[in-house]
Amino acid sequence: MVKVSDKYFEIFISEAEIEQEVASLASRINADHQGQEVLFLVLLNGAFMFASDLLKHITLPCSVSFVKLSSYHGGTSSSGQVKELIGLNESIEGKHVIVVEDIVDTGTTMDALIPDLTERNPASVKICTLLFKPEAFKGQFAPQYTGFNIPNAFVLGYGLDYNEQGRNLNAIYQLKKES
Ligand code: IMP
Repeated sequence: MVKVSDKYFEIFISEAEIEQEVASLASRINADHQGQEVLFLVLLNGAFMFASDLLKHITLPCSVSFVKLSSYHGGTSSSGQVKELIGLNESIEGKHVIVVEDIVDTGTTMDALIPDLTERNPASVKICTLLFKPEAFKGQFAPQYTGFNIPNAFVLGYGLDYNEQGRNLNAIYQLKKES
């Protein structure tokens, strides 16, 4: 059990399970992209640890870029929130792009990102996420590569944070159930 910020968390997915699944995801990506060059677009901050481990197992010719989606409040938007892609300074035209994400929850982030990428005329765009919450998902772009399907509950560790803390943990933790 760990205390992060003001809450207690318990182990949910161990370091060994993550290692095994990350290697297996990379094998699938390698097999599916034989003869292709791939651009991995890593979404900061959450995906930094997953991407680092995943890329060690990638045997394809590839490049890696790190991007961020900022949220800001747009005065006239009905949702009140607009996400803007930051850090993509190169052309992705004609490239095979794989977005590397820590978790796909409602799908809002991917709904903001994927159309923006598609407009830039890549050869293909796919999503690789370590965690996916199918019960919470209501987006238009489901991940092609998913490490673990998990229930609709808050998790942290291995890049994911709670109040910006806990990203350094080497396993995935969930909120401790009240006893
Ligand atoms: P979505 O836009 O609802 O799919 O959520 C994606 C983003 O929300 C992720 O990139 C995370 O930053 C954050 N997020 C969603 N669920 C969790 C969670 O259980 N723990 C920590 N962060 C989460």
